[in-house]
Amino acid sequence: MLAVVGASLYYEGRGTSGLPLVLVHGFPLDHAMWRGQLDGLSREARVVALDLPGFGRSPPLSNGSTPVTMEQLADQVVSLADALGFQKFVLGGLSMGGYVAMAVSRRHLARLAGLILVDTRAEPDTDEGKSSRLLAAKQVLTSGLSTLVEESPKKLLAPDSQRNCALVRKVEHMIWRSSWAGVAGTLRGMAERPDARPDLARLRIPTIVIVGEQDVITPPQGAQKLAASIPQAELVVIAGAGHLSPLEAPRAVNSTIRAFLGRLSA
Ligand code: MLT
Repeated sequence: MLAVVGASLYYEGRGTSGLPLVLVHGFPLDHAMWRGQLDGLSREARVVALDLPGFGRSPPLSNGSTPVTMEQLADQVVSLADALGFQKFVLGGLSMGGYVAMAVSRRHLARLAGLILVDTRAEPDTDEGKSSRLLAAKQVLTSGLSTLVEESPKKLLAPDSQRNCALVRKVEHMIWRSSWAGVAGTLRGMAERPDARPDLARLRIPTIVIVGEQDVITPPQGAQKLAASIPQAELVVIAGAGHLSPLEAPRAVNSTIRAFLGRLSA
């Protein structure tokens, strides 16, 4: 295992051969949500799971009072790929990580060998959604992360996973590792993210859309529409999983990604 601080983003890497696979976490988590993929896919790929700025061990980009846009985050991901010498890589992103992955595909399409969109959506926030994000950003900067820690596992995990105390603790620990500034800045950035749907038809690279069967944040119906809008996309529904399918059902997600990587290498 390789763990690196000192570059602008912290990351963990496993595996020395195969296509590079760069994984971007959801909000408000960090690279550790991909532990099952770091452990399970290192024979097939050179797997790198990073911490976006302000999450895990990566320093924030702003003090949280200004937005950190999905485009800024996309450029950070590509800078890390540059630093690692990845000319072409497969990019996977969960939820907010998927917003970032779609921004990478708009700005740096030539760098992508394939795209893995997990429990995510292309639609922008509704006006109501934007207002509640801006309110949450203010609250985090004044009161910290305790509300997020308390509420997130219930929304992110399927009911069965919520009964798995070790899994709930993992999610809570990841949230506690986030910085207030990082959380507030990305809440503001997500509120102003553009509608990604108009660009999907131009996304002519192998793509897989993965969704937890019991994901209540980005449900399977939306994932089906997302996959149908991307020319070469395939949809895979992960039985029994919620919004954090890679963490809740690592074996099923790994066998899906393994098969996808196999098709890309063939
Ligand atoms: C995530 O899991 O990254 C969040 O649900 C994304 C969001 O809040 O839109």
